[in-house]
Amino acid sequence: MKKIILGIILTAFFVGCYYDKSQLLTPVTPPPTASNTFTVTYAISSATITVGTTGNTGTPVIVNTAGGSVTYKLVNAPTGVTVDTSGIVSWAATVVVGTYNFSVIATNIKSLYDTSNFLLQVDAIGAAVVAPSGYSYSPASTTISNGTAGSSLAPLINTGGGTITYSLTSPPAGVTINSSTGVISWASTVAAGTYTINAKATNSAGNATTTYSLTITAGVYTVSFKNDILPVISSQCATCHQSTHPTWTQWSTIYTAATSIYGKLAPVGNMPKGSTLAAVPTSEVSSGLFRDLFYLWITQGKKNN
Ligand code: HEC
Repeated sequence: MKKIILGIILTAFFVGCYYDKSQLLTPVTPPPTASNTFTVTYAISSATITVGTTGNTGTPVIVNTAGGSVTYKLVNAPTGVTVDTSGIVSWAATVVVGTYNFSVIATNIKSLYDTSNFLLQVDAIGAAVVAPSGYSYSPASTTISNGTAGSSLAPLINTGGGTITYSLTSPPAGVTINSSTGVISWASTVAAGTYTINAKATNSAGNATTTYSLTITAGVYTVSFKNDILPVISSQCATCHQSTHPTWTQWSTIYTAATSIYGKLAPVGNMPKGSTLAAVPTSEVSSGLFRDLFYLWITQGKKNN
């Protein structure tokens, strides 16, 4: 009799533990942390002019999630080059013949700053066209996740006084250059990898070359409940578990039991008893383990997709 009572108490204890566990172990994905973005981008970052000519860069594109005013400061600019309160950089007729590399530092009220580099070439009147020089990009590299199209900023260049045509030497598929502005663009279809892009600027007197580095990172696979999770659980688990559990043949019951299922999946757990889980594509989870794919599904919000 004592044994029977003890048995009932122990059974109640274990049943209690099981239900508690399934309640407690729901994983929580932390919310993304908010941070301010501040970028100042100029469509024009270089110019070649004849002495005595005025000009300007136009208004920059400002992304300033913190709001408030933006201040601009010139660094290493020659006499006659100024920046106004809206960020327009201008050169007066008085700038003397020479090649000038200078920067504008823009700062917002949160003390975030962004630096833009410029190249101004002032040629003497009647100077002959010479080969281009000082061809570069600033920044000269981009890292972006796959599936995202994008482009570089306009290059810095001393045109040598001639009209420039830009081109790329054997670019990766999906990467192009604007032949008149020198802006390099990539399509959303460019495969993951790191690419060194070889660019060339040509005028009537010669050419200059430079490189741009593009890194496309592999994105995270979006787990499909219908295609990745349900077929495995319903064929390899529900068979044994249909009497002890609400059937694991639908999203709602697998959703509820997700944490205990994860805990029991091989190779850490001992399920499925009597059979093995097939490897999943390593492009989905690098380990190739169904267990890790199931965990990814949990972290992605256990979607019914
Ligand atoms: C051949 C039958 C069999 C198969 C197939 C099987 N299980 Fe089990 N499972 C059991 C038995 C028996 C137990 C209780 C004893 C134990 O834990 O080893 C159990 C226990 C469990 C438990 C813990 C207790 C409970 O009932 O919730 C979980 C979770 C579980 N299995 C998940 C799975 C998952 C997920 C699969 C598929 C990947 C699976 N099982 C496949 C027989 C099976």
